[in-house]
Amino acid sequence: MHLPDLDIAKKRDKKENNYIELKENYKPVLKGKKYFLRTYGCQMNVHDSEALRNYLEALGLENTDLVSNADVIVLNTCAIRENAKDKVTGFLGKCHYLKKKNPNLKIVFAGCMSEQPNVINEIKSKHSYIDIVIGTHNLYDLPKLLLENFNKQTIEVYSESDEVIEGMHYNRDSQYTAWVNIMYGCDKFCTYCIVPYTRGKERSRKLEKIVEEVKRLKENGYKEVTLLGQNVNAYGHDIGETFSHLLECVAKTNIERIRFVTSHPWNFTDEMINIIAKYKNIMPYIHLPIQSGSNEILKRMNRRYTREEYFELFTKMKEKIPNVSITTDIIVGFPNESEEDFQDTLDMVKKCQFDGAYTFIYSPREGTPAAKMTDNTKMAVKEERLHRLNELVNYYSNQSNQKLLGKVVEVLILGNSEKDNSKVYGYTDTMKLVNVSGPKEIIGQIVPVLITDAKSFSLDGDYLKEKVKN
Ligand code: 5AD
Ligand code: SF4
Repeated sequence: MHLPDLDIAKKRDKKENNYIELKENYKPVLKGKKYFLRTYGCQMNVHDSEALRNYLEALGLENTDLVSNADVIVLNTCAIRENAKDKVTGFLGKCHYLKKKNPNLKIVFAGCMSEQPNVINEIKSKHSYIDIVIGTHNLYDLPKLLLENFNKQTIEVYSESDEVIEGMHYNRDSQYTAWVNIMYGCDKFCTYCIVPYTRGKERSRKLEKIVEEVKRLKENGYKEVTLLGQNVNAYGHDIGETFSHLLECVAKTNIERIRFVTSHPWNFTDEMINIIAKYKNIMPYIHLPIQSGSNEILKRMNRRYTREEYFELFTKMKEKIPNVSITTDIIVGFPNESEEDFQDTLDMVKKCQFDGAYTFIYSPREGTPAAKMTDNTKMAVKEERLHRLNELVNYYSNQSNQKLLGKVVEVLILGNSEKDNSKVYGYTDTMKLVNVSGPKEIIGQIVPVLITDAKSFSLDGDYLKEKVKN
């Protein structure tokens, strides 16, 4: 049994990365049994779930979308805000009920919540029906733990890791677009954020391994890769590499579309901007979290830039990368945020006119520095600020979508539209969602689409057989 510890998770030693090449070969000994997997949270978790799915299926388990049919339930959890935890707790109620009906059911708790000592204490005291808890650093322990014949709760969570895993297999959700991990962890320690504790220290995969993975994906018909890291522009600092060099090498594989998330404004270099501008297959889309427009709040958040520096970078990107779309994340109600601080945030939204923004009310995370700061701002005030912010943010994303009305854009078609089954859906190079009238045969292709309607969060369009010049 290994339990998490935030003090250990906070440590950043100078140890070299330990590259581990997994050699996995499992027998389908659980054939005939079914698993149900639910994922909460960010793209990193979504991608981790593709690895968990691979392990489950390598053991012979089959996917079911009906939780009551499952022999194994896996929850891949998120710790970023309290409401993510509330959703998990709600679902655990259902798992408990199913376990009472079927004592052979195995319940696996994975993901970022496993890395929080307070959560583990709750699991031990209130959720003894959970069979296995694994952390974010040792997903590869899942098969071993599932096959072990134990009858008490097993918790295998490591707080630190110097491991960089290679040779991981994934059962990817899509045949056309793939997540590719380029690094693990985060060293930024923004004062509100739990991620540096749950995901450990920043460590980069080897450049050749990433490029190899992209080449293989391309050979297998993938049209798009998204390079994944908590903070992709810090890629390579631990191994004498740079993100701009990686981007250039990935661009040279000639895969059709390359994206990357998430970028931090602090170390986004001119070289990176130049490379993005230079290669047509690097998509003109940057997710660049600002978090707040107030210099005082940014300082207390430990974001390492001022509003002026953010705007300078933003302007440079807009000038140098043709047609670039920039989206952001914003937190309202950070401890003791004043109305004036909030007005600074609204002001930055007006200046930048973001193509889109994810907005959140600050949620204290136990063990982070911000959770100890005094906060005299009432929740009702925070909610009202979020509402005002959302109105402004939605206005600009609508404006940005309206600009595409009547234009022909390239869309990578990913599948049937959820809203209207007679349509298909996909994304523009600038990451805008489009519901497209067109035949199912175009799924998996990048096709020209005439934009016929624009809303705040999506576009409608018609597939054009012949490309018409704008
Ligand atoms: N409370 C609210 N939002 C948060 N985020 C990260 N930590 C918190 C928190 N404690 C937001 C940030 C980040 C995004 C992924 O989640 O905006 O960019
Ligand atoms: Fe969290 Fe900041 Fe790291 Fe992003 S950069 S994961 S917000 S600590």
